Amino acid sequence: MDRTPAQPAAIVVDAVKLMPPGRALDLACGRGRNAVFLVEQGWSVVGIDGSAAVMEGIDPRVTTRVLDLERNPLPYENDSFDMVCIIHFLHRPLFGEARRVTRPGGAVVSAIHTTRSTMNPKYTVAIGELRSLFSDWEILVDREDQIAEVVARKPA
Ligand SMILES: C[S@@+](CC[C@H](N)C(=O)[O-])C[C@H]1O[C@@H](n2cnc3c(N)ncnc32)[C@H](O)[C@@H]1O
Repeated sequence: MDRTPAQPAAIVVDAVKLMPPGRALDLACGRGRNAVFLVEQGWSVVGIDGSAAVMEGIDPRVTTRVLDLERNPLPYENDSFDMVCIIHFLHRPLFGEARRVTRPGGAVVSAIHTTRSTMNPKYTVAIGELRSLFSDWEILVDREDQIAEVVARKPA
């Protein structure tokens, strides 16, 4: 099987232009397209996915961890990461956990299909929903059509 990761999500490419490299957590990282991109940009990255098989063969510079994100809290202290990515994985309580483990001044980076897309509604957010989860943070990037995308910075 071709294990070359696909292109990173546009919102992750945008996010790295806004902050210096640091420690990133990529939730539901899949085959690692975003995690590997971040490593290549100088970030130290932990990728978590529920499937070990999906992460098999991922670039060894990414630290991987298998965890069911729908059943477990994140095993990290508050304020542990400079960037937390949730790209095309929807489990709403995970946003609270992502907020918790992001350090002040760090950012959550997310892209999720919206109800405007043809995606199974189970995996979509309502229009305005993603940004509303960060209404008390500074929104650095906010795009929304068939995909909602945000970069939201935690108050320092
Ligand atoms: C659509 S893929 C997105 C992968 C990656 N974020 C990307 O943008 O390429 C969704 C990922 O969520 C993972 N996943 C599904 N359910 C999960 C769960 N309960 N806990 C952790 N990961 C899960 C899948 O294994 C898959 O890799």
